[in-house]
Amino acid sequence: MANILIACEFSGIVREAFRKQGHKAFSCDLLPSDDNSPYHCQGDIKEFFKLFPDWDLIIAHPPCTRLANSGVRWLQERNLWNEMREGAEFFKFFLTLSEKNCPRIAVENPISHKYAVEIIGRKYDQIIQPWQYGEPYSKATCLWLRNLPKLQPTKIIPVEEREQKCHLLPPSKDRWKLRSVTYQGIADAMASQWGKVL
Ligand SMILES: C[S@@+](CC[C@H](N)C(=O)[O-])C[C@H]1O[C@@H](n2cnc3c(N)ncnc32)[C@H](O)[C@@H]1O
Repeated sequence: MANILIACEFSGIVREAFRKQGHKAFSCDLLPSDDNSPYHCQGDIKEFFKLFPDWDLIIAHPPCTRLANSGVRWLQERNLWNEMREGAEFFKFFLTLSEKNCPRIAVENPISHKYAVEIIGRKYDQIIQPWQYGEPYSKATCLWLRNLPKLQPTKIIPVEEREQKCHLLPPSKDRWKLRSVTYQGIADAMASQWGKVL
């Protein structure tokens, strides 16, 4: 069974989807895990990599706050260019990990603006939606892939049953966290489809 690292994940959703398939999956995030898992490391992923550089598959969910196209106007209005550069460099860190250490990589983020794409170096390989994976929500999610097949839809939810989940969430200090958790249907598809190619 393969060694899999889910980088920037506190929820454990993707980690546990792979564990259910029998893989040795671990997660790492600055935050503690929501499920108190012994397979979670709380800390800086870059430090973690120094200790454990070799993985069969890495799936990374880096923060999108300054990279998402939906927030591009704030870069100019609030002069957030340095934060944007830092975020894009962090994103690029995953894509440029040595192929010898980590042959297969997927990095997930919403649609990025052109300034981020310029630093990251390339556009995404695929856009997916939760409603293609049995979840009744719309939220365009991009995947940058290395040596992985595109994720195939598992269960299409009809148009009339789809909602924008983020609009349903009331303002709260945890809103960003709730919005950022990976959808179970997408995690299951990653585990069953990518777990097979390992
Ligand atoms: C968009 S959220 C991803 C959440 C994920 N989809 C989940 O279900 O848990 C981005 C995460 O990156 C984490 N993060 C940011 N910088 C990090 C770093 N240097 N090392 C580890 N995690 C980091 C944040 O704490 C945050 O939880």
